Amino acid sequence: MIWQGKRFMTQPTKVTLTFDNGAPPIELPVMPSSIGPDVIDIRSLSQHGVLTYDPGFLSTASCSSRITYIDGDAGLLYYRGYPIEQLAEHSDFMEVSYLLLHGELPDAAQKAHFDKSVRTHAMLHDQVNTVFRGFRRDAHPMAVMIGVTGALSAFYHDSINVFDAESRELSAFRLIGKVPTIAAMSYKYNMGEPFVYPQYRMGYTENFLNMMFSSPCEPYEVNPVLARALDRILILHADHEQNASTSTVRLAGSSGANPFACIAAGMASLWGPLHGGANEAVLKMLAEIGDVSRIPEFIARAKDKSNPFRLMGFGHRVYKNMDPRAAVMRQTCHDVLNELDLNDDPMFRIALELERIALQDEYFIARKLYPNVDFYSGIVFRALGIPVSMFTAIFALARTVGWMAQWNEMLADAGHRIGRPRQQYTGDQRRDYVPVERRG
Ligand code: ACO
Repeated sequence: MIWQGKRFMTQPTKVTLTFDNGAPPIELPVMPSSIGPDVIDIRSLSQHGVLTYDPGFLSTASCSSRITYIDGDAGLLYYRGYPIEQLAEHSDFMEVSYLLLHGELPDAAQKAHFDKSVRTHAMLHDQVNTVFRGFRRDAHPMAVMIGVTGALSAFYHDSINVFDAESRELSAFRLIGKVPTIAAMSYKYNMGEPFVYPQYRMGYTENFLNMMFSSPCEPYEVNPVLARALDRILILHADHEQNASTSTVRLAGSSGANPFACIAAGMASLWGPLHGGANEAVLKMLAEIGDVSRIPEFIARAKDKSNPFRLMGFGHRVYKNMDPRAAVMRQTCHDVLNELDLNDDPMFRIALELERIALQDEYFIARKLYPNVDFYSGIVFRALGIPVSMFTAIFALARTVGWMAQWNEMLADAGHRIGRPRQQYTGDQRRDYVPVERRG
């Protein structure tokens, strides 16, 4: 048990809640975690007429999960126990998807079966094309993705039994397979270009790049270095434990709702600027800095408390150390710019220098402000030719895997209950209705 930053010598198994009004104390059990802080089981409190207050869930574990572990102080991120750096280096997105969903790395036959099942679910019902046509051409791709993914619940509704493991697995294949197609179609629709159909013979990431960039007029050769870079980005974004969008998917799914509708709800949450939009802000900032010589001026602005400016891509609500994904992303950025002969890319140079200066600056050191994953991802996306409006859409297709793994874990637990947070009521007490002519 970690308590106020200290680890007790012996693990407590229960805690006692005492009251200063003479009410009897309440004993609460402590549930051990495999790593990280143990949790106090407060489920019995409501029977005593007591609730806890924790808006934003800063101190509340909303579930038990075996999927992802984050230690923000140490800068650690594990999927099913495997450090993210090892997975980004040695694995691929499909294998990581299998790992997140099933808990173990697949053997060769399991991997081939999973790969094929995702690929062969990539095509959308032909009727979905007409759903796209209901949107304005200039609609944001995320708005289109939310709408079309939600609309797919109408295509797969009666056939889905969310309380059956096989049915849930089929839903996972459908969603992981189809969301990249929806994302690429949202982009093509926005550009006014014809849709490109998925190719079952292509790998997941190659297929996505092909659907984004090929056209009937011009063949598109997928560059393996760029495909690998995108695959890494997908691995880094596949899951991040109980963040806002994942909690949204769990809460929506807790009622037994259709999985396409749950994933659409997760996408809606992800679209918010506080969640998925920071890499776009980093690009804007780097463009505004414009030249390495202007970095000190921007550092000074970031430190000036009378100025609301913040160094975009620095700091994180959970990571109070280097975001482990940022280091992988920096290397990926380097690989991509090297491959494209863009080593002198001014934005990358400014980013490297900004990171170097900030990591030595007392202000950033004292506040534990390190580069986060978004600091480099915008530069990589830009080099890959992916427009800013698609950044969050790609985040969503990567995170679809994590959402499905978390949704599946919740429903596989026979003891799961519908999510129903409580509240502290601060409104009026009982009062009687007054007819309009007697008011005021
Ligand atoms: N630049 C300058 N100062 C900063 C920055 C920054 N990027 N981030 C935090 N600070 C300062 C704050 O002003 C505050 O200083 P003070 O103690 O002197 O008042 C201190 O550091 C702590 O800041 P908080 O806002 O309390 O930190 P919190 O953990 O709540 O915020 C957040 C985290 C929102 C990410 C913040 O660091 C930020 O705005 N960063 C820039 C935006 C960004 O990159 N967001 C992406 C997050 S990653 C992701 O979503 C995948």
